[in-house]
Amino acid sequence: MARIRRLTGYIGAEVEDIDLRRELGSAESNLIQSALNEYHVIAFRKQLIDSSQQKSLTKLFGDVGRLPYVRPTEEDPDVIAVLKEAQENQAGVFGGEWHSDFSFLENPPAGSVLRAVDIPPVGGDTLWASQVAAFENLPLELKTVIENRNGIHVGKPYGVKFAPPVSTQVNGSIKMVRGDPAADREVSHPAVVTLPKSGKKALFLNPIYTVRLGGMTVEESQPYLQAIYQHATKPDFCMRWHWQSGDVVVWDNRASMHYATNDYNGFRRLLYRTTYVNEAPV
Ligand code: SIN
Repeated sequence: MARIRRLTGYIGAEVEDIDLRRELGSAESNLIQSALNEYHVIAFRKQLIDSSQQKSLTKLFGDVGRLPYVRPTEEDPDVIAVLKEAQENQAGVFGGEWHSDFSFLENPPAGSVLRAVDIPPVGGDTLWASQVAAFENLPLELKTVIENRNGIHVGKPYGVKFAPPVSTQVNGSIKMVRGDPAADREVSHPAVVTLPKSGKKALFLNPIYTVRLGGMTVEESQPYLQAIYQHATKPDFCMRWHWQSGDVVVWDNRASMHYATNDYNGFRRLLYRTTYVNEAPV
């Protein structure tokens, strides 16, 4: 029977003694669903699963979602390749800033699943930060500002208004749609969300997509947002995963933010990502 081993005091657990190539029984399914609710990120070593087995795992947590603005693999429209080739030294990296995946959508993915295929010999780790711990430990003066307030999210990397300079954009390996004015639309979500399964509260603001707080201008919001991000990404609330080929990691996109490190110039890195969808953030 599978076992859960916690990775830090606030976030992350490894699921041991499990084979994701098999159909999981209800006891194992319940165990890993509960582990995700409790620890927000769960990791599996040495799985070597294919896309269809990745999708079976994804379905344990919600409906498999499809995202705009990123072209999926040719083989499967539910899967995107998170790829940076060895020669793309000057490129940024997909997810290379703290974020919650596609929080600018009306109903952003509730979570994602990454499967590691080709991993550099050094670097390329991913970090996650518990936004439950960040909210619980948020100084009262910042809590007072954001409770009962919305965050305003925009698809900055994909739109026109906030699009980053071409020199900082990620290269050809990730097929991203850019310059779509629809991505400039402002979408509101509560700055503090309640997690449907546990009832816990989590911060739901992130530096890639949140442009301002509701009822404030971009300029008025910035000092609050910067202070919140500095707090919300403290190493105390983080886990860091050093990938090996065959690893699979599932995360809760409401309870955590994540960050892909870009420290492996000269090496290829390829993972496949699926997302799952549940109800919109509340
Ligand atoms: C992502 O943001 O989903 C990519 C994470 C990674 O490549 O480590």
